[in-house]
Amino acid sequence: MQVQVVDHPLAAAALTVMRDERTARPQFRAALHDLAMMLVYEAARGLPTMPVSVTTPLTTTTGVVLAAEPVVAPVLRAGLGMLPAALTVMPDARTAFIGLARDEATFEPRVYLESVPADLAGRPVFMLDPMLATGGSALHALRLLTARGATGIVVVSAVTAPEGLTALEKSGLDVRVVTAAVDESLNDVAYIVPGLGDAGDRLYGAV
Ligand code: PRP
Ligand code: URA
Repeated sequence: MQVQVVDHPLAAAALTVMRDERTARPQFRAALHDLAMMLVYEAARGLPTMPVSVTTPLTTTTGVVLAAEPVVAPVLRAGLGMLPAALTVMPDARTAFIGLARDEATFEPRVYLESVPADLAGRPVFMLDPMLATGGSALHALRLLTARGATGIVVVSAVTAPEGLTALEKSGLDVRVVTAAVDESLNDVAYIVPGLGDAGDRLYGAV
């Protein structure tokens, strides 16, 4: 499994705004949007293209178009905070929605929505979730996407924990992770430390 930590001053600054406990919801959403633009841009670096002929005002030359329609898969709720950025970077992408809520006692994901195209074979798939903690939610989403034929899925996360990365690695799934940070560890209630708290609550308010 490949893990790419995006090392860029603008990404680090946006993540710092998100980490700050004083950052209010509007500024938190804006910082995640900015960070997601950079992460998705990097995640999309390997997209296959095919050559096309393009006629400029001066001559005809060769350009490219994407070889396949990408699919972006936000994990609700918090992944929705990355969706507008992903669709800005890849406007023609299709969106798959996966709704998961982590049980606060067992840390296991509870599924409440699976709205995913039936056949993902041959399509580049980007799973969006700002937080990868135990990895339980990501593994559920990845297995669902894999069962629909997706391969080489890219997990795009603002903050990851070593425990979650190890869980993904051990799963043997063919994934790549693009993130702004690999933090220290999880605490005893499976929150990422130093982390940024509950991403869904900070984006949309506590439920
Ligand atoms: C958060 C986060 C991930 C998950 C990560 O979502 O957005 O989906 O927890 O934890 P894990 O790696 O241990 O599974 P949560 O379940 O809190 O739902 P929310 O986005 O609706 O707040
Ligand atoms: N989910 C979050 O939103 N934050 C964490 O630190 C862990 C899981």
